[in-house]
Order: sequence, then C-alpha cells, then structure tokens
Amino acid sequence: MFARTRRLRQNEAIRTLVRETRVSKEDLIYPVFVVDGKDKKEEIPSMPGVYRYSIDRLEEILERVEKAGIKGIMLFGIPSRKDECASSAYDDEGVVQRALRRIKEISKVYCITDVCLCQYTSHGHCGIIRDGAVDNDATLEYIAKVALSHARAGADMVAPSDMMDGRVARIRAVLDEKGFYYTPIMAYSAKYASCFYGPFREAAHSAPRFGDRKTYQMDPANIREAMREIESDINEGADIVMVKPALAYLDVIRWAKDGFNVPVAAYNVSGEYSMIKAASKMGWLDEKKAIFEVLTSIKRAGADMIITYFALEDM
Ligand code: PBG
Repeated sequence: MFARTRRLRQNEAIRTLVRETRVSKEDLIYPVFVVDGKDKKEEIPSMPGVYRYSIDRLEEILERVEKAGIKGIMLFGIPSRKDECASSAYDDEGVVQRALRRIKEISKVYCITDVCLCQYTSHGHCGIIRDGAVDNDATLEYIAKVALSHARAGADMVAPSDMMDGRVARIRAVLDEKGFYYTPIMAYSAKYASCFYGPFREAAHSAPRFGDRKTYQMDPANIREAMREIESDINEGADIVMVKPALAYLDVIRWAKDGFNVPVAAYNVSGEYSMIKAASKMGWLDEKKAIFEVLTSIKRAGADMIITYFALEDM
C-alpha cells in the first residue's frame, strides 16, 4: 500500500479545491515614491514599471491602485533638500506631508508612511551622526517628530524603518500625547542588512555616503535575534510587525507568525522585484508564474500582508 497523493492533482478543479494558500489583492500593499517638484513621472531604471511621482501627478497612480483592488499604499518621500539632521523629514511642508494632504483630498486608499531619516540626511544614514557613528538615543527624538508630522498630515499608519532601539515606544508616547491614539504602528522589526535593498536606494537616493547599515540593521544569519526584536517592538506598542526582506527570510516570517499574536507583514523588497523583472526580460523566467509563486510562498510562510511592487500586476 502507498498513498496516491496524485489523486487530488488530476485536474484544475480539484487542485483549486484543495489549495491551502490563496493570495488576494486584499493582502497586498503597494509602495509609492513621491518626489519633490512638478509634473514628474520618472521610471526607476533598476525597477522597470515603478515610477517616482510628483504630488501633482499622484492621481494617476492612485487610480491604478484603486482599480487593481489594492487597499493600502506605503508612502516614501524623496525630498529636494537634505541636511545633517533630516529636517525636511519632519517639516509639515515636506514632500510626504504635502502628498498625504493631497491624497486625502482625492482618494480613499489607506496610507502607511515609511518613517526614517535616510532619504533626508546628507550622509544617507537612518539616524543622527555623533562622533562619526549613528547615535541611537539622539535619533529617537527625530524619528518621533517625523511620525508625528505624518500623523498630523493624515497618515493612517506609521511604519518606522530605522531600526533604532526604543523608537516604537517613543513614537507611541508622542502620538498618544498629541491625541493620535488610533494611529497604529507597523514596526519594521526584523529588518536585515540586505543587498536586496540596492534598487530602492537608487530609487530613493538613500545609499549611505560612508560605511554601511550593519550597526543597526540585522545580520542575515540570525533568527533568535529577530524574535527578540519583534518581542521588544510588541512590548513597546507595535500593532503590526514586519519581516524584511521576504524571500530569503521565509523561515523568519514563519517563526514570527507562530511566536506572536499580532499581524505579520512581509516586505517583498526592491531587489526581489528587480531579479524577476530582469530574468523575465531575458526570457529566462515566466514572469506571471514567478510572481504568483513568490507571493504565494510569502503568504504560505505566514505573512498576513505583503508589501510588494508586484501589487498592481495581473495575477
Ligand atoms: C529606509 C528603507 C529602505 C527600504 C525601505 N525603507 C532602505 C534601506 O534600509 O536601506 C528598502 C525597501 C526596498 O528595498 O524595497 N530605511
């Protein structure tokens, strides 16, 4: 006797009935890059099909998002001005703040904002530099200021991606103090120091000018440490925790899902997008099938939601 597991694979109907994981458009969040200036729609060379939009042209992409059935976007700002302490990141007239006010006039899409300093600092690091290194505690005040100004401008949720210790607690305290009790925090909790962010850094002009991000982002080899990051973010008040990147970290997503009782987000990052785009352009991969397989795997690993540049593609 042996098990005839092939019985349930004999045609599409039965395969559909026994399918264990389904990815729906409702699981997906689309990242949007908004750039200072007027009348801009610039394709990002290493991310074909992804653009930076100026505020006056956001309507076009929001329409596509809504038509695709996507409920949420993750907003990234690309400012025209950078300085040592990222002052354009917490300026109420900054690019993200103005974009939020505009989006709220024209769309019902749920807006999550990336809260970080790296696009806004002249040195490109995610924090404040003191004595040549990123100073954790000096950074917290700035990160909280950014989150608060996003909430004031209409952000539905804030997502700190800086990886400083204690930032979730500080953001929660500041938001609550100003009455934003119902603005949730999605913490980039297990964010690894990954080469897969390469195309994003080109898109957002946010590569560090010296050194790297290894003193704050995690070592790809570690998973217990990821659980520790997630646990402390939840204790500090995170409503949703994120694992990033997704594909090389499917085990981390599964551990996060099994170990905690909050929703888990996975970020299918820029390099994961570009790999598939490049291989299918060469004719080496079937793009549609690759996208479907990748998103299904991330969902199967335990992600409740996936932030992905593929969100607008037909699936
Ligand atoms: C900002 C930030 C980064 C990404 C999201 N937020 C870049 C980085 O940490 O260097 C990467 C997203 C992607 O690669 O798609 N800190």
